[in-house]
Amino acid sequence: MLYKLSEWGQVLKKRQRLVLSILGTLLLFSFIYNLVIFVLVTRFNYNISDSHRNFFNLVSIAAYIDCGLLALYVILRTSGNYLNDYVPKFSYSKYGNLENWYDKTFAYNQRKLWLNNVIHNLKDVIQLANIKVALSPSGNQGKYEYNIAREFSKTRFIVTDISIQPDHIPSSENYEYLSAINNAMHVKTYLTNIGISKVELIWDIKGAFWHNHRSWKLNKLLKSYLSILEDNGFIVFDAYDEIEKDKIKINKRRNVSEWDSYIEDSTYTKIKKNLHRNKTFKENFNISIIGEGEAKMAVLKKI
Ligand SMILES: C[S@@+](CC[C@H](N)C(=O)[O-])C[C@H]1O[C@@H](n2cnc3c(N)ncnc32)[C@H](O)[C@@H]1O
Repeated sequence: MLYKLSEWGQVLKKRQRLVLSILGTLLLFSFIYNLVIFVLVTRFNYNISDSHRNFFNLVSIAAYIDCGLLALYVILRTSGNYLNDYVPKFSYSKYGNLENWYDKTFAYNQRKLWLNNVIHNLKDVIQLANIKVALSPSGNQGKYEYNIAREFSKTRFIVTDISIQPDHIPSSENYEYLSAINNAMHVKTYLTNIGISKVELIWDIKGAFWHNHRSWKLNKLLKSYLSILEDNGFIVFDAYDEIEKDKIKINKRRNVSEWDSYIEDSTYTKIKKNLHRNKTFKENFNISIIGEGEAKMAVLKKI
């Protein structure tokens, strides 16, 4: 119920200018009108007629209602912002600030042959063809995973997310989409439910790690991943170098159908500082950075 209400905050955010200008105009009009009447009555002893007085009261009531609406607007907008910023589940769904993020990024990556480059680079470190079970805990629509599963037919690729997109790629053959809401913090629970105790590869591109970069959350997530990772298993995530903040801002603001660069830092940039300080990481993983440019990836190997 609270979420449903806050969703309106996200709708309002999209219609922000229109809603604000209607409410603002109403408020301004009633304020000016009341002020004029007030000055006329108090300064010039203006004798307002009954019909005028009624209209005056009506405008005052409208102003009160408008103030109430404005307050409601602020509350909904704030909760909408909260959802977008702190509950990733909502930012990627309808009205969320990242509603079209996946499709735009996928199109951009396709143009850059990103997945082909990544698979090519990973070859030296991970034999994808030998991976029996892989998990993408925050796969959104699952398009990349589907393509990997097509190429490596012996790998059972499990995909899920905390925010299930209605247009995700449905399960077929060795690609399996778990369409219940699944939090990466609880991988063991949901994998056990489908009879899997260990995976050899965790594929987490701009996903749960990215969204849980603060130290205590990162630690919790690392422990969650460790609980299902085979010995010598891998965690893979994007590690391209920091991009200019201005470029990110411009791309975010532009309402284009396709990006012309990424609109956020890579997972590695985001978690680097806290990762290298983290005891769970230091005791359990080796890290290697492979590839170049946007296809640069971080590979954590369980030791
Ligand atoms: C930027 S998208 C990345 C999607 C996809 N991995 C890709 O490469 O395009 C981030 C995804 O992470 C998911 N996510 C964030 N926190 C999560 C969590 N704790 N558990 C599972 N998924 C999470 C979001 O719902 C969203 O679908």
